[in-house]
Amino acid sequence: MDMEPLTFPEGFLWGTATAAHQVEGYCTNNDWWSFEQRPDAIWHGDRSGLACDWWHHAERDFALMASMGHNTHRLSLEWSRIEPSEGTFDPAAINRYREMLTALQKQCIKPMVTLFHFSLPSWLSAQGGWCNQSTVGRFRRFVGYTVEHLGDLVPLWCTVNEPNVYAALGHLFGEHAPGHRSLRSYFRVLKNLLQAHGEAYRLIHSLRQDAQVGLVKNVQIFEPLCAEDWASLRLANVLDHLFNSLTLSAVEDGKLRFPLTSGLPSYGPLLDSTDFVGLNYYGRLRTNLRPRNGSRLSVLQLTPGAEYSDSGRSGPYGEIYPEGLYRTLKRVARLGKPIFITENGLPDATDNQRPRFLLTYLAQVHRALQEGIDVRGYYHWSFIDNFEWAEGWGLRFGLVAVDETTQARTPRPSAELYSKIIRRNALTEDMVRAYAPEAMHQIFATTSPDLAQ
Ligand code: GCO
Repeated sequence: MDMEPLTFPEGFLWGTATAAHQVEGYCTNNDWWSFEQRPDAIWHGDRSGLACDWWHHAERDFALMASMGHNTHRLSLEWSRIEPSEGTFDPAAINRYREMLTALQKQCIKPMVTLFHFSLPSWLSAQGGWCNQSTVGRFRRFVGYTVEHLGDLVPLWCTVNEPNVYAALGHLFGEHAPGHRSLRSYFRVLKNLLQAHGEAYRLIHSLRQDAQVGLVKNVQIFEPLCAEDWASLRLANVLDHLFNSLTLSAVEDGKLRFPLTSGLPSYGPLLDSTDFVGLNYYGRLRTNLRPRNGSRLSVLQLTPGAEYSDSGRSGPYGEIYPEGLYRTLKRVARLGKPIFITENGLPDATDNQRPRFLLTYLAQVHRALQEGIDVRGYYHWSFIDNFEWAEGWGLRFGLVAVDETTQARTPRPSAELYSKIIRRNALTEDMVRAYAPEAMHQIFATTSPDLAQ
């Protein structure tokens, strides 16, 4: 039986995502470079070091992307390069970013640029970073300078990457820079980041009417291991409120709800402050306060017995759960804005899972599109292996493997599959047969109901 291809809309954007500190190399003037020097901060004692050497040779990878048919790339700008000391801006850094963005345009790769992706200039970190309300104004100044000098080359802007993840890992759990462990800091940082997003959104539009501006939100699914377990359901709902709803509602109606209250009923610049939603989706976590059938009591755990991706220092990175992408797309679609999947991927050094991952997750994107959800593009995390924050080089997310010592690139089989998907703008039966025959039903069941039986 021939399966109908799962075809994506004309003009759908296909690409990958990266972040400056993870790929540029020698971002020595920021808080992450300092954090890396702390004993045990990074798994195996790894360092970002030369990273993927993008500050000197990004164009090499842009050419490789173009050879694979990619038509967009999401990258971030390193604040500490552009503003190395307070109020002093470096034209050489701006010129290098102009070179990179121009190189992408010449390769017909549309740039999406993130303004804050986890790393802060050392001078700003020394003044409290995002714990300090005045950082909102400093971010606004940085955004103004950057957009004035690069705005002609950037059609899509992301203001802040994953405010909740940044606040949680850096200020609550202490696993990321600056290594704080304070619930109070978590909420203060989250409020400042959201206000900074609102200010940046307004400012970019005042400078570039043609720009499209969005916030990048990692939507984590929280749900009880057992649906009938009221206590675990309640806990999942509270975690969802604190991690997801607070942020999604703020960019919609401008209200900073408890416990974020800024003393204002709503923060003007935040009202309707996103032209698109940047959705990062990596998985779900389960609550289990009333263990049964031998399950483990826990506030949060991965689904027992599920398929997991590679493990980092503290265990599996995440659960393979394609339907979660469909569920999170449906959720953010309620904001009524176009959606870009700004990150989705897995650590898979052997590439044994990634081909099936691509096909099964993209089938869920197609399912959402078929229901009228306005998805505009997909940015796989990531094009190349890169410095995975506190996991160092221990987790490999790239479609293309990188030897960080020799800087050699080796495309993995999933890079070839992704290239085929892009060129066809569809998922086809041949692709599934070649790369993940065992997933044929899972992938086509949504469009071939008779397969679903
Ligand atoms: C994040 C960041 C990325 C990560 C990626 C894999 O979500 O933490 O956006 O920088 O590298 O998500 O963990």
